[in-house]
Amino acid sequence: MAGFSRDLGIDLGTIYTRIAEGSHILVEEPTIVAIDVADQKMVAVGKEARDMLGRVPDSIEVARPLEHGVIADYEITETLLRVLLQRVSGAIRIFRPNVMVSVPYGVTSVERRAVHEAVLQAGSRDAYLIQQPLAAALGVDLPINSPSGNMVVCLGGGSIQAAVIAMYGVVSAETLRQGGNQFDEAIVSYIRRKYGVILSTVTAEQLKIKIGAAVSQDTEQSMEVQGQDQVTGLPHPVTITTGEIVEALQEPLKQVTETCRRVLEKTPPELVSDIIDRGMALTGGGALLRGIDKLLTKTLGIPAYLVDNPLTCVAEGAARALPMYPLLRRNLPTV
Ligand SMILES: Nc1ncnc2c1ncn2[C@@H]1O[C@H](COP(=O)(O)OP(=O)(O)OP(=O)(O)O)[C@@H](O)[C@H]1O
Ligand SMILES: [Mg+2]
Repeated sequence: MAGFSRDLGIDLGTIYTRIAEGSHILVEEPTIVAIDVADQKMVAVGKEARDMLGRVPDSIEVARPLEHGVIADYEITETLLRVLLQRVSGAIRIFRPNVMVSVPYGVTSVERRAVHEAVLQAGSRDAYLIQQPLAAALGVDLPINSPSGNMVVCLGGGSIQAAVIAMYGVVSAETLRQGGNQFDEAIVSYIRRKYGVILSTVTAEQLKIKIGAAVSQDTEQSMEVQGQDQVTGLPHPVTITTGEIVEALQEPLKQVTETCRRVLEKTPPELVSDIIDRGMALTGGGALLRGIDKLLTKTLGIPAYLVDNPLTCVAEGAARALPMYPLLRRNLPTV
């Protein structure tokens, strides 16, 4: 890693892109870009672009360039990364940074190459890839240098990844191309079935975050939201309770527990017994869902716990991985 260069870790997420240097988060922006349709020039990125969602004329397109943790629109991803990297390191090209960027576990070589190329084209000197759960494990300081088992679950907006890590590498893992976005969709369809009212996914996400939970709570909360009557098309307010959100989320939550179960099933028993002792670390925005730790603990019989830095651990871990490259190298994804 050449002398003058800075080492940056990037978590290129479906919902958020985060850039870290050491343990400092330098950038945290929604993975969204607004483009002028006529000349394809960028109008805004990040929060500024998110504020334009659903509020702009046809001449501007507001796009989310990632789906399920992988690049869906290459050009827009590259534009976003270029703007964010310039914000961090200035426009002077001699100080181009070394970048370690996370990719979901198990993505195809075409998908990996797209991320690698986008990071290089966006202005980095060297670009390396790391599996998201491995970066998360480094970011939460799990002892991955030892021959003992560590389990991490990444609950993102577009993907869910569960992995067992030992000796600097992934031993067994699974990726589900479904995440918090699908939780929001499950809430939308539950409310439509029950009340004949259509909510936006933005409103569904607010319900999930403000009053939602994975298991029944002792104190029920409720919240009034505005929807649209399925028949008349007119505005129609509904009051939703915590219990209803718990019910709406049962199916996607089952997918989460099944994914963890499949990973445990293919993990050597020696490592599983370490995980029973140490517990499994829950990371990503979805780990903030009330009671998801309890649900996993109860269903799998293994203690699950929320980490201190669930949103930033992947970017922090990716940044930490750069100076450890010689140790990690043989276990990192190839391009
Ligand atoms: N308190 C909360 N309760 C439940 N879900 C939450 C909460 N806070 C955030 N989320 C969800 O977390 C998701 C975003 O998490 P995160 O930033 O980890 O995703 P990402 O890294 O961009 O996605 P991915 O890793 O899948 O590419 C969203 O779906 C959001 O609704
Ligand atoms: Mg993520």
